[in-house]
Amino acid sequence: MASTTDLTARLQKLGISDFPAYPKAQPDLNPVDIFRSYISDELSKISGVDRDLIFPALEYTSNPERGDMVIPVPRLRVKGAKPDVLAKGWADKFPANKYVDSVTANGMFLQFTYSAKLLFNIVINDILTLKTDFGRSDVGKGQTVVVEFSSPNIAKPFHAGHLRSTIIGGFLSNLHEKHGYKVERINYLGDWGKQFGLLAVGFERYGSREKLQSDPINHLFEIYVKVNQEKDNELATNDGKSETDDLARQYFRKMEDGDEKYLTLWQELRDMSIEKYKETYKRLNIEYDSYSGESQVPKEKIARVMKELKEKNLVTEDKGALLVDFAKYNKKLGKTLVQKSDGTTLYLTRDVGEAIKRYETYKFDKMIYVIGSQQDLHTAQFFKIIELMGYEWASKLQHVNFGMIKGMSTRKGTVVFLSTIIEETKDAMHEVMKKNEIKYAQVEDPDKVADLVGLSAIMVQDMQSKRNLNYEFDWSRMLSFEGDTGPYLQYAHSRLRSMERNANFTEKELLNANWDLLTEPIAATLIRTLASWPDVTSTALKNLEPSTILTYLFKMTHIVSSCYDVLWVMGQERELAIARMALYSAARQVLYNGLVLLGITPVDRM
Ligand code: ARG
Repeated sequence: MASTTDLTARLQKLGISDFPAYPKAQPDLNPVDIFRSYISDELSKISGVDRDLIFPALEYTSNPERGDMVIPVPRLRVKGAKPDVLAKGWADKFPANKYVDSVTANGMFLQFTYSAKLLFNIVINDILTLKTDFGRSDVGKGQTVVVEFSSPNIAKPFHAGHLRSTIIGGFLSNLHEKHGYKVERINYLGDWGKQFGLLAVGFERYGSREKLQSDPINHLFEIYVKVNQEKDNELATNDGKSETDDLARQYFRKMEDGDEKYLTLWQELRDMSIEKYKETYKRLNIEYDSYSGESQVPKEKIARVMKELKEKNLVTEDKGALLVDFAKYNKKLGKTLVQKSDGTTLYLTRDVGEAIKRYETYKFDKMIYVIGSQQDLHTAQFFKIIELMGYEWASKLQHVNFGMIKGMSTRKGTVVFLSTIIEETKDAMHEVMKKNEIKYAQVEDPDKVADLVGLSAIMVQDMQSKRNLNYEFDWSRMLSFEGDTGPYLQYAHSRLRSMERNANFTEKELLNANWDLLTEPIAATLIRTLASWPDVTSTALKNLEPSTILTYLFKMTHIVSSCYDVLWVMGQERELAIARMALYSAARQVLYNGLVLLGITPVDRM
């Protein structure tokens, strides 16, 4: 793993011999920690306030004119003095030096502006040596997090909710890995229930081995639709009786009893579907550690759940069915069925059993369920049941929810399968690319590029707003190269790549650039923004919002684009060209890291 050369030695070269590293900080991975450590140490000496109070009180400014960081003085809880008076007094005693260009009081706030010179010296070097490790941390070291996401239902369409779960879950997994966690990616398939009896009956009637081989997802859906129609017709014409439905019920009964004969076909359908899913997930840079599913919840676990619920007096009976009533604990949770009157289990009970199984398997420190808001109640109910059953790890469960995508249909307006949407996006992207003939001719593998840029379009559209907002699936906006879209970020990346190729400096030249030549304010703005990247990934780890990453990437690439007007590389003196190119290369690396973190493959040309 890449690491920065010894930070102390590097600081010494810059004339800083007494760097006061703060215990919890990681200044060798996060340059901002150098400043935070120093400021909290120095301000502690000046003010007498404990540096443990100062360090976490340092906040980003909303407006760059207010410097890099502020401390709202009231947060330091100094008794008997007015915050604005304190701020003023401390600012006067805090001289500009090698770390800070200025310290000023602004009402109750103390504002700090980092030394641009130190930033250039430290940050570009950090980024160019840490490479993909810039933005990582060790906070999760030794901890395991289970992330359950995507979880489609076999033989049913992969709907918009599954798409969001896939995209957000993939990102959250990468994010935790970046911060040192061991991540278990789990796909909890909808692969059990009476509908599989129905599917088997349908397959026996009109299934085709050939079609199943070549296109299992669509074929199974076809059968599913057809057999359901048949069942509904019978119900309607036959006084609410259906032979098909009875057969399906019997079939599923046998499956539940573990009758091998009846499980073979189901197993085959499941395996084939998973193989297909895998191909699609791969395009999204997702690989699961385990394909679990409702079928994989052991019977003993369910039996144990039911037994414990009864022992703890948590269930009541109603016409042979068993319920849990949450009224005593939380009115909003209502009541819920945990066992049907015919003794069969339910989605909810299976979730409880599965959670117990996962805790026993992974001893996780945290388990994240990425499921749409429509299942808020379901999730809250089964979390509560686990808590009521007395499992202390109930507090480690976390539901990461999200709003709906409206109007997601293929361009032809039919039922949606993920692979269809991806294919259509790719084709549409390809059409857009062809419009620029000259450029198009230079792209080596346009099909591949159209695929990657198309994927970025889908993913960025999905992740750019806060998770809980609904959004409208919008083909034209999504595919645009202008405005805040995936193609825009891909374009920004490929443009920086192209500059790197044209300039063609060695890494050594870039690392030893003369930073004193970066005098333009826009260069300072860019370096400040690049320095904050590790903090941005830490913020995302707290709020679990992909939009935190995207908002940053758009802001950063907009600054880069303003740089193009001022910081020229071509035709400049070599020394100046190298210093500027080093800055651009650092920006390119951060953009790359951000895209990869989101699950997007950055393109080098487009
Ligand atoms: N298969 C379910 C559906 O499509 C989603 C599963 C969510 N995960 C869970 N543990 N309940 O609605």
